[in-house]
Amino acid sequence: MIVLKLGGSVITEKDRAETLDGDALSRAADAIAAALENDRENFVIVHGGGSFGHHNASEHGVSTTAGTRDANAVLDIHGAMTTLNRFVLSRLLERGVGAVPVHPFSTAHRDGEGRLELPTGQVETMLAEGFVPVLHGDVIAHAGAGATVVSGDELVATLARDLEADRVGLCSTVPGVLDEGDAVIDRIDEFDAVADVLGASDATDVTGGMAGKVRTLLELEAKASIFGLESLESFLEGAAPGTTID
Ligand code: IPE
Repeated sequence: MIVLKLGGSVITEKDRAETLDGDALSRAADAIAAALENDRENFVIVHGGGSFGHHNASEHGVSTTAGTRDANAVLDIHGAMTTLNRFVLSRLLERGVGAVPVHPFSTAHRDGEGRLELPTGQVETMLAEGFVPVLHGDVIAHAGAGATVVSGDELVATLARDLEADRVGLCSTVPGVLDEGDAVIDRIDEFDAVADVLGASDATDVTGGMAGKVRTLLELEAKASIFGLESLESFLEGAAPGTTID
């Protein structure tokens, strides 16, 4: 089973509010449809927000730790993300992929310690019945804090762990984790070896920073890859493009 994240910046135009990058999304959907046709691999897809969701969240002062108790703010952020989710689903459905939505707001929450609780029974049943579940970064109820953001990366980590994924792919705007000279680092197996390049400052960034992504992926059993859109097809064919984190 593969857990694949489509980065928000890949499928949207990050600098223009609520604007899809239709060409990029179509390319991603083509690659996913082709992979499903070829070897019937099981997939869970997670997408980020890009120009959807992030600005609504920051307008309302909501992050993964700072919450809101304003229901209108919750609906505003959640609404932007479900709009993007609709676009993703339609592009996949147009290509014959049995994509169905899973909205984290309706199924997940954080406990008083801020830990993500995401029941995966529904996703497992969807997979067993031949559907392709498509989750997304969202806002979720957070014990003691109202509602906070859950990033696509957090969802990927939890799904990979609980569903015992074989492989995890993060399709990103960069071709992999880059070194000082902007060359793609082939393989990372311990954080210390790349700490200087990634910078300690965003080590705690859970929503976007590369350091946070690498730390999270290193903790997973599954082999993970970070690669650009041009390599999505090869990742889905079983190759390990970009940076392998294992
Ligand atoms: C964004 O999800 C979720 C919201 C802001 C509501 P991500 O944090 O996973 O999005 P990208 O991939 O970094 O854009």
